[in-house]
Amino acid sequence: MYVFCCNGVTDREIKRSIEMKEIQTLRELNNKFGMGKQCGKCETEVRKIFNESVTREHDSPSRQITPLTALA
Ligand code: FES
Repeated sequence: MYVFCCNGVTDREIKRSIEMKEIQTLRELNNKFGMGKQCGKCETEVRKIFNESVTREHDSPSRQITPLTALA
């Protein structure tokens, strides 16, 4: 689904960039895709996608930190 209609960017492209660690902050997302620099209609939806994707990445089992006591 297109979320940056002005630039033809899809939600899938944003999610992939987050998964590939190309984007870790909203500023990086703005720099890469130019969010809101034209009509601004995308900002709310893109922030929502960003927050959901970052939370999902942070909570994924492969990203969870192993307690030091478990390594002893
Ligand atoms: S959709 Fe127009 S600037 Fe984002």
